[in-house]
Amino acid sequence: MQPKVTHDENQTTQPHVSHPVFNNWDVIAQGWFFVGKSRNLKPGKIMPFVIHGHRLAVFRGTSGQVIALDAYCPHMGTDLTIGKVKGDSIECYFHHWRFDADGACVDIPCLKERESESIPPMAKTSSYAVCERYGSIWVYPAKKAPNPVAEFPDYAGLELDVWLASKETVTCHQHVAMINGLDAQHLKTVHKLDLDMSLTENESSDGRTIELILEGDIPDSLPGKLGQLMMGRRYRYGMIYTDANIGLLTILQKLPFFGTRALWPQLHMIYAYKPLAAGLMELQSIYVTKKRRGPLGWLYSRLLLTITVALFHVLKAEDGKVYDNMRFSTRILLPIDQPIARFIAHTNRLKASIWSPKNSRPS
Ligand code: FES
Ligand SMILES: [Fe+2]
Repeated sequence: MQPKVTHDENQTTQPHVSHPVFNNWDVIAQGWFFVGKSRNLKPGKIMPFVIHGHRLAVFRGTSGQVIALDAYCPHMGTDLTIGKVKGDSIECYFHHWRFDADGACVDIPCLKERESESIPPMAKTSSYAVCERYGSIWVYPAKKAPNPVAEFPDYAGLELDVWLASKETVTCHQHVAMINGLDAQHLKTVHKLDLDMSLTENESSDGRTIELILEGDIPDSLPGKLGQLMMGRRYRYGMIYTDANIGLLTILQKLPFFGTRALWPQLHMIYAYKPLAAGLMELQSIYVTKKRRGPLGWLYSRLLLTITVALFHVLKAEDGKVYDNMRFSTRILLPIDQPIARFIAHTNRLKASIWSPKNSRPS
């Protein structure tokens, strides 16, 4: 898919409203980014990680540790992803300089014959925090991350069954794509869900996570009556957005099962976004449910994951081509668009990371 930047179009008649972080391709905010599936990075293997404006070499050392370094060798700039893993370090293909987990050069073969010379202090590359969760490797644009990749509160500490979809590319910015779940108007017009949703919003004290719960009365129409029978009068779903690049969505949140005290099984999915270039973004969808014991438990988990995937595809198909050529505007937001306005304000408070491609880098 080709990048598509709509910012420069229609400037004389429909000037673009730019934001400090929201929908801004020049800013990579701090946050965890999906690298790849854990099982695809065996000990001794290297995986490139490319985000708009930055390239890393991510490798798994022979001890099993995953290490992420800036990809270009500080000697002459060879791409370290074509190098070789040695223990928990990586050796550059060109002159065999070797870098440890902190990015420090620990060996320069030619210096063995020149005892008067030592490893130059500049011979180091930056290292980044790495985390493994949801069967996936994640990387953070700093040496240390303040917290691990977000989890669903009701799944904290539990073993999970995970289903990773194939990566997709989308031409709109991730912040615009994330708005889909908050857009109450389109629930009626596009998805034909006749619900008046009210919003509850909680922002974490560090300002990096925003939880949005939308709930409303199920209407008394014919399909509504069926819904009421199945899950009571109220419907609710929730989203947890961290760093405006990972969305954790819960459907069927705490809804009674056919009027009993039992609850419908909640369906969970994660959207992990990464800008590839201005106008091109990558989406990794991850479906999760708690791990259940025995063959029946396994089957039940698979069934829930299949339903979650199917639901995602139905909703996505209904959204159609909206995001393929959208010049997202924030000029006219109505009271019903309040969840969107909240998300935009939250996103604009996020901090730019060192991977931001242009002028917006932190000082
Ligand atoms: S370019 Fe990497 S060791 Fe020379
Ligand atoms: Fe939608």
